Amino acid sequence: MGEAAEASAEKKRKRGFDAQARGTLRRFIRDWIWPRRGEVAIALLITTGLAALTGAYPLIIKYAFEAVEKGGNDALIWIIIAIVAVTAARSVFLYLHQVATTRVVLRMVIDIQKRAFSHLMGADYARLARDATGHLVSRLTNDLNFIQSSAQTAIVSFIRDVLSIIVLTGVMLHLDWKMTLIVLAVSPIAILPIRSVGRRMRAVARRTQVELGGTTARLTETFSGSRLIKAFNLEDYARRRLNQNFDQILALRMKSVRARARVGPILEALGGLAVAGAISLAYWRIASGGTTVGDFIAFMTSLILMSQSVRSLGAVSTATMEGLSAADRVYELLDEKPVVIDKPDAQPLRVGQGAITFDNVSFAYAAGGEIPAIRNFSLIVPGGKTVALVGRSGAGKSTVINLVARLFDVSDGAILIDSQDVRDVSLVSLRRAMAIVSQDITLFDDTIRANIGLGRLDATEEDIIAAAKAAAAHDFIVEQPNGYDTVIGEGGLRLSGGQRQRLALARAIVKNAPILLLDEATSALDTESERLVQDALAQFTRNRTTLVIAHRLSTVQRADLICVMSDGQLVEVGTHAELLARDGDYARLCRSQVLADVDEAPQPAEP
Ligand SMILES: Nc1ncnc2c1ncn2[C@@H]1O[C@H](COP(=O)(O)OP(=O)(O)OP(=O)(O)O)[C@@H](O)[C@H]1O
Ligand SMILES: [Mg+2]
Repeated sequence: MGEAAEASAEKKRKRGFDAQARGTLRRFIRDWIWPRRGEVAIALLITTGLAALTGAYPLIIKYAFEAVEKGGNDALIWIIIAIVAVTAARSVFLYLHQVATTRVVLRMVIDIQKRAFSHLMGADYARLARDATGHLVSRLTNDLNFIQSSAQTAIVSFIRDVLSIIVLTGVMLHLDWKMTLIVLAVSPIAILPIRSVGRRMRAVARRTQVELGGTTARLTETFSGSRLIKAFNLEDYARRRLNQNFDQILALRMKSVRARARVGPILEALGGLAVAGAISLAYWRIASGGTTVGDFIAFMTSLILMSQSVRSLGAVSTATMEGLSAADRVYELLDEKPVVIDKPDAQPLRVGQGAITFDNVSFAYAAGGEIPAIRNFSLIVPGGKTVALVGRSGAGKSTVINLVARLFDVSDGAILIDSQDVRDVSLVSLRRAMAIVSQDITLFDDTIRANIGLGRLDATEEDIIAAAKAAAAHDFIVEQPNGYDTVIGEGGLRLSGGQRQRLALARAIVKNAPILLLDEATSALDTESERLVQDALAQFTRNRTTLVIAHRLSTVQRADLICVMSDGQLVEVGTHAELLARDGDYARLCRSQVLADVDEAPQPAEP
């Protein structure tokens, strides 16, 4: 997906490179630095103090020389006191500087992290499902590390170095303004190498971030598939796959290191030229009485200190490029607009009977190309009744449920609940009205109680136990080592498939919603437990609109209405007896054991 888009974005990046970098930087400052301007100002102030103290060194050296020349004892004592005082003050400021700048950077990065996460939580289901989990994780972790480290370098060094350069320039002007002007005239040469390296850094950084995302995605995928890896002897396959990623990251990192390593030596060489030039000039300056030896040495000290600052500024600017590249990616994320959203005048859904109407619905998944998953689907699920959806795998049954919950919007037609289009009501009210047990069950690494309680966050202990009983889960829960307090592991890994399903069912039951959507909610249960659950559910689903997808005849038979789907279309509707008598798709499904039952063999339809 998006190879052409990626290529054109790449072209755009190259063309408007500097402009875009400046744009991102401006936006970044406005969004994240400006709101923390108070803290930034404090950090700046402390940094200014540090720079001022740094500037005091050469001055003290100048006076020390003069004092030594004159041979006065008093002056020397004062100078020693001054040196100790300046160093002590500088230590204190170094500490404050470190803490204040790091604090502001960390807080800023957390701001970004919270915003990005909150944005993703509000994103479409389709968007969240589009990227592998690891890619999303990497955007909220690795990318922010890039921003953090470069913001840290930038704020810490940029301010310090710029201020040092300003202060040292002032000192140099004070000592010997003619020589200073000559130095300043040649200094812009230093900018050229920094700029060209910066461009390269930004491009490499972007590729590194994408690659890190890919690696994180593969790692998460591999670890969550550890059972498969073990059972199929895929350890070497996994090692090879991940080693490719690791090597790729190493290569990119080395590219960035090589680019970055170029800046220091170039500036070092330029600095050497500047110092050599200044010394040659000095001979003539001192001879002509334009300066003294003390002034000259102070001047050289300042110049050397300044060339250090210029060098570290070069490093900052290349580091900033990495941060800007990560900031671009954060902005790409934040600029994505969800599609499935409330209309401006969205009203809460008013549920009466809870009738669901599918009015000529068609739908195609974005990733599914042109092939629609649902075509011209029309059906009325009467309020308070149970409707079963059956059909072969891939027929579009789960898609129907996704559309009712508005995880996706229909491409054509409409879905109405009690005559209200699901797209016209607020999402919160829509999803409050329905409880879903989906085909792939999601459980969090938390206690059993907490996992059931997710159905309704204000559920009481009694509600939770009642729901667990209704889902025939109570008995196995109390047998767990800590009962309802047992932590079930990531994805509920410490439970059996059937136990997981019953927890999911309990979670849906505790929600106590008027509409119940069950996608193979009891498929992993043995017939015995299934019957228990079905009996309990019969009680619970009375007067609730229930859409149930099932492969078990016993479940399907209980429904008020059975709908048979094939290839995204509705092909038959009726009761079990009616459909058997018709001897159509339903009867065929029964015969072909798609609708299976272990102890209740499907009754072959009479020809
Ligand atoms: N997220 C998706 N992106 C693209 N295509 C999808 C997606 N989910 C499902 N499909 C496609 O849509 C069609 C219907 O899938 P659906 O999950 O609704 O089938 P189903 O009837 O629930 O099948 P099963 O009984 O196996 O669960 C299938 O052809 C499937 O490949
Ligand atoms: Mg399905």
